[in-house]
Amino acid sequence: MEPSATIAVSNLASELEAQGVDVVDLSVGEPDFPTPENVVEAGKDALDAGHTTYTPSSGIPALRDAITQKLRADGIDADPSELIVTPGGKQALFETVQALIGEGDEVVLLDPAWVSYEAMVKIAGGDLTRVDTTPHDFQLEPALDALGEAVSDDTQMLVVNSPSNPTGAVYSDAAMAGVRDLAVEHDIIVVSDEIYGRVTYGTEQASLASFEGMGDRTVTINGFSKAYSMTGWRLGYFHAPESVIGQAGKIHSHSVSCATNFVQHAGIEALHNTDEAVDRMRESFRERRDILIDLLADNGVDVSHPDGAFYMMLPVDDDDQAWCEAALEESHVATVPGSAFNAPGYARISYAASEDRLREAVDRLVTDGFLWRWRVIETEQANAHLFRDQKVSRVS
Ligand SMILES: Cc1ncc(COP(=O)(O)O)c(C=O)c1O
Repeated sequence: MEPSATIAVSNLASELEAQGVDVVDLSVGEPDFPTPENVVEAGKDALDAGHTTYTPSSGIPALRDAITQKLRADGIDADPSELIVTPGGKQALFETVQALIGEGDEVVLLDPAWVSYEAMVKIAGGDLTRVDTTPHDFQLEPALDALGEAVSDDTQMLVVNSPSNPTGAVYSDAAMAGVRDLAVEHDIIVVSDEIYGRVTYGTEQASLASFEGMGDRTVTINGFSKAYSMTGWRLGYFHAPESVIGQAGKIHSHSVSCATNFVQHAGIEALHNTDEAVDRMRESFRERRDILIDLLADNGVDVSHPDGAFYMMLPVDDDDQAWCEAALEESHVATVPGSAFNAPGYARISYAASEDRLREAVDRLVTDGFLWRWRVIETEQANAHLFRDQKVSRVS
């Protein structure tokens, strides 16, 4: 297992900052907004009210009820007994993989895939099969044939993450229905990581568990970090069939015991009273996405337009690791190498940064010759391939 590449870049950026360097950090996967004030107040009130003890292992009933309501609104036939509240969505994923995957079990990932899926499967002793959506503009629907070839009756688990980190792709309903058909045919459990589900632009992401036939084979992962700007509070949850919850609950109780008590109370406020704040943040992300796409286009760089989350993939050098290191050391712009997500040749940009910082970043990359001119050429197979038009990089 490799250490997390996103954390490695972030550490290097922090080192430079400690030396007084002005780093434009587009590597971090967290909103740059404060947690909504009413949520902070709810957390403080909970502390004042003495909510500082352990809670029931799977979470306080009021929060589990609020989550159940949210899931039902998303079309999932949820019951509080099928839920575990965790310290972050990452822990929810970890417990799910630990509960379901053993030595030699096959897990299918859709590349580019978030860094920690691979590590979690390896820790559990599972084997990975990977399906690449890169030639399809990071979309799943045109990759369904490839997915159909990759899965079999031996497949234990498929991980779907839409909106996606790192690509920002939002999968179509047809893609989700295709996943359903394959999951039912081969009796596969699907882990649907919907942590960016409320961060979409002009398109809605349907919950996989709401599709007919998926209720008893989907683990829905979610959390409060991204939609409510609550990364440091560490609060997430998962919903799964009772048999999975039973197994995962043992891991949960023997590892974290429960999520932090007062944080769970703040989570109730987040679910009930933040629609306006969430809309405002989403609108800002959308504006920043558009600004960044335009700035890159002005410099001859075409990117796949993300419809959700706050990331986009920038085509860079084949050696994306070297490109990212050089961009950080020379231009002081931090991004994450695509290789970390099994997508060599790209850098992941997080646009959860102010408009000024995004402009500054592109300005520096252009001035220092890190942005190349690219054009998209349609091939006879209708696959989009990226060709370098003009290279002015200082990285060889
Ligand atoms: C795709 C994806 N899933 C899950 C998580 C876990 O988030 P958290 O543990 O903060 O809830 C992240 C965080 O970056 C993510 O990007």
